[in-house]
Amino acid sequence: MSLQEINVKIFRYDPEADVEPRFDSFTVPVIKNMAILDVVMYVQNYVDKTLAFRCSCRIGMCGSCAMYINGRPRLACRTQVSSLGTPDITIMPLPNLPIIRDLATDMEPFFEKWKKIKPFYVGKSELKDPVAIRPDSGEREFIDQMLDCITCGCCYGACSMVATNEEYLGPAALNRAYTLIADKRDAIRVERLKAVGRSYGVWRCHDQFNCAEVCPKKLVPTKSIQQLKKRCVLQKFGVFK
Ligand code: SF4
Ligand code: SF4
Ligand code: FES
Repeated sequence: MSLQEINVKIFRYDPEADVEPRFDSFTVPVIKNMAILDVVMYVQNYVDKTLAFRCSCRIGMCGSCAMYINGRPRLACRTQVSSLGTPDITIMPLPNLPIIRDLATDMEPFFEKWKKIKPFYVGKSELKDPVAIRPDSGEREFIDQMLDCITCGCCYGACSMVATNEEYLGPAALNRAYTLIADKRDAIRVERLKAVGRSYGVWRCHDQFNCAEVCPKKLVPTKSIQQLKKRCVLQKFGVFK
């Protein structure tokens, strides 16, 4: 689909100044290979300098430009205007997070949950060789598929359980927890599993794959959560060590 211009509606809200949110409309000329990040940059550079949004790498690596674009969470820098198949584009902040201003959300609740699962590897002191599991072993196969999270929060914004239960750890943190729990070299995997098995953890997930559908890195947090559920049951029967 070749477009000359697009009609863009952008969510605007400054919690410190505005009584309520509004949408502002802009007509934006389309250039070749234009991404949604180029669209908001155009608006900020040429029409309204006060528009707030977040971005950094522009190549789908930093995860900072996640927005709610035409009804689903996406990375603004990796979403081509042409891929949306319409000249009418609505851009909103990522759902399930507080709004700092306009399209910039406060990622603090997301990272608070990330911290709860202790997202770092803890080595066993008796393990002298840190690469005790061969990278090409079957054991690593599944973990490897789930390692490329860029903490963009797209899955978090798509999760209906996060929307209804603010304590729920959410797909990204649980996915990260799984990559560590499945690694037998990790010294605190039993403790981690107990943490994700609590009331705000894996049992809240309804296995509907919304998170996987929107993940720009093609991760499937639902599968990691299913694996965690299995291990929680094994732990209950004393078979997970
Ligand atoms: S599958 Fe689970 S974690 Fe993923 S969006 Fe649904 S409820 Fe949330
Ligand atoms: S799992 Fe995917 S969607 Fe969720 S934060 Fe990581 S990269 Fe983003
Ligand atoms: S700006 Fe870094 S992922 Fe989009």
